[in-house]
Amino acid sequence: MAKESKIRTPIVCVMGHVDHGKTSLLDRIRGSSVVSTEAGAITQHIGATLVPIDAIVRMSGALSKVNVNVPGLLFIDTPGHHAFTTLRARGGALADMAIVVVDINEGFRPQTIEALQILRNYRTPFVIAANKIDRIHGWRVNEGQPFLKTFAQQNERVQGMLETKVYELVGKLSELGFNSERFDRVSDFARNICIVPISALTGEGVPDILMVLIGLAQRYMTESLRVSADGPGAGTVLEVKEERGLGMTLDVILYDGTLKVGDEIVVAGNDQIIETKVRSLLQPRPMKEILIEERFERVKSITAAAGIKVAAPKLEGVIAGSPLRVIRGGNRDEVVEQVRHEI
Ligand code: GTP
Ligand code: MG
Repeated sequence: MAKESKIRTPIVCVMGHVDHGKTSLLDRIRGSSVVSTEAGAITQHIGATLVPIDAIVRMSGALSKVNVNVPGLLFIDTPGHHAFTTLRARGGALADMAIVVVDINEGFRPQTIEALQILRNYRTPFVIAANKIDRIHGWRVNEGQPFLKTFAQQNERVQGMLETKVYELVGKLSELGFNSERFDRVSDFARNICIVPISALTGEGVPDILMVLIGLAQRYMTESLRVSADGPGAGTVLEVKEERGLGMTLDVILYDGTLKVGDEIVVAGNDQIIETKVRSLLQPRPMKEILIEERFERVKSITAAAGIKVAAPKLEGVIAGSPLRVIRGGNRDEVVEQVRHEI
């Protein structure tokens, strides 16, 4: 293994049917209220948020940092509204792992199934967040508690109701060819999909879902996450935006290598390939959604995986969804060809 290789931050895509609670789950993890800023509380873009491992360890309550070697999780939020199939597919393509959020009271809906199909195509490991358990009739809220702790404090009728609803999900997943179980009964993560009952609103079960994600990353992905940190950067453009004082900028998910100020990059425009030079890189703060962040930090270079705002000349006409590649060491023609091929 090369000396400079390291485990990069896994990209975790949050997917699922409209209103089932994807953004709310991320709000709970970030301690933010992005949902309240969305028009009609509908997500219409792909977002990205870096959650450092320290925050995850703190929230999980049970992990020890000593045993964890992923540096954090980069969460990608996707829209559940049926109109945004392209954005979900784009998010799915970027994901190392995924959370499929299902409203436990509604069960599977069309975009739940669409998400599962995308994940199956890419062979992406995922967990099911069976959300809104606080809406089960008679549920007693134990704010922020791990699932088993709050479950033990429910009466038998409520426990029975939750079990029934979880088994309905197990049945649906089985119809689609996936083996699954409630997470605390899963011993082999490679063979069974974990269903974690949660409430994004009260935080119940959220420690467990973070633990399951880290467990998946640690056990099954550390080799695929090992990257050469100083390789040429590769990413996907999420948004093309004009920013005051910066001109046109790109919001980019960098999924491989390093991107530096001064790097020659290649992106795709409406009707041509664009080559330009990175003028500045603006990094959102940890725990902040890149889409609504206002206080970016200027950095000289950034290593995957990360959400980053890129300012450069000639970005007019760049298309959302375009690949972004760094030219390094005389590989210009190859890079241009790659970008042409990927769009
Ligand atoms: P789209 O991005 O539009 O697909 O929706 P979403 O999946 O991001 O759902 P969102 O987080 O916007 O939540 C939809 C509604 O459900 C909001 O009114 C939330 O407050 C509510 N909600 C989300 N999670 C929970 C939960 O665990 N319990 C309860 N009671 N309400 C929830
Ligand atoms: Mg949303």
